[in-house]
Amino acid sequence: MDFKKDFPIFKNNNEKYPLIYFDNASTTQKPQCVINSISHFYSHYNANVHRGNYKIAEKATLEFENSRQTIANFINAEKDEIIFTTGTTESINLIAYSFTSLLKDEDEIIISEMEHHSNILPWQMIKEKKNIKIRYIPVNEDGQLDLNQLESLINKKTKLCSIISMSNILGTINDLNKISKLTNKYNIPLLVDAAQSIAHEKIDVKKLNCDFLVFSGHKIMGPTGVGVLYMNRKFLNILPPFLRGGNMNKEVGYETSTWNEIPWKFEAGTSNIAQVIGLKNSIDYVKKIGFDEIKIHNKKLTDYLVKNLKDINNINIYGHKDKNFGPIVSFNIAGCHPYDISKLLGEYNICIRAGHHCGQILMKKLKTNFTNRISFQFYNSIDEIDFFIKSLKKIVKILKN
Ligand code: ALA
Repeated sequence: MDFKKDFPIFKNNNEKYPLIYFDNASTTQKPQCVINSISHFYSHYNANVHRGNYKIAEKATLEFENSRQTIANFINAEKDEIIFTTGTTESINLIAYSFTSLLKDEDEIIISEMEHHSNILPWQMIKEKKNIKIRYIPVNEDGQLDLNQLESLINKKTKLCSIISMSNILGTINDLNKISKLTNKYNIPLLVDAAQSIAHEKIDVKKLNCDFLVFSGHKIMGPTGVGVLYMNRKFLNILPPFLRGGNMNKEVGYETSTWNEIPWKFEAGTSNIAQVIGLKNSIDYVKKIGFDEIKIHNKKLTDYLVKNLKDINNINIYGHKDKNFGPIVSFNIAGCHPYDISKLLGEYNICIRAGHHCGQILMKKLKTNFTNRISFQFYNSIDEIDFFIKSLKKIVKILKN
């Protein structure tokens, strides 16, 4: 099906060449229904939530809380286990900050060598305060986590395991069921960074048996500035709030205060109301297409891309040696700097990302500083890949001359 017609950017971008957008791991395009819902909020019932009792304030609060319910249903959580943040980064910072109250010096956190910086730096921040140890699950030569090592990293001091569900650089789909079985065996809380998988896989937090799961709205056709933190009920009451300010309190005294009910105790200040409402609409839109269709389409694109890239001389495609990879492909071509390739592809109105993709530890493992990265969504097509490969071959010729 042609989904491009739902996305106004593809008809509004009047360059010499049609827009080919292959940077979906960075952010996705927005369908008209999401744009309309944001515009409708501002032009029909803009008011703050959880405060006023006049009509438009009540309508805004209702739509805001409806969004929370939609998201809870989407990942099979309870409504009050859904906390709105500004994105994946804030969600992980919130957990790291709040979780510090449960940590002692010498405690240990397990992450992996394929984490995005947003799942490394918050733990390093905690390390500065509490002298904890960060242990890394290694990545093997095939671009997969060496999960045989996980059990040996666990000991009595391990207090949390925090893992990316799909690598934003390699597309590796991590075996979260295997990880969750182990963390549950040793009673270690599991945090899942679902930033990349949220728009590609059905997620069920109950089946996954995880304690925290985070994602950003803008990676699932929703607006920027809204993120989700799923927190299992067992932590909602014991963890202290991260940000403090309006609406997250019950009684404020001169010296001490008490906190609002969950989940609002974690939502200080005025929320990103329009974005939260937009996110509901993006999730409804994605649900209508369905993950079965999205997965089949993106797998076809990814296999076709990898097969065609392999024809290019001196190319190094990272990972993608078996089926455990989603629609994200990183590569390098000897003698062609990734920034030159992405800049010149821009001349054909083709958008790919070049850089370290906020994964400098993984880059070290891959023995490079930067890669070119292509990431698909359901509005991409085989024709676009054909044009991309043709353009890439021309560019490589120019760069090698
Ligand atoms: N996390 C996003 C990416 O990988 C920004 O591009």
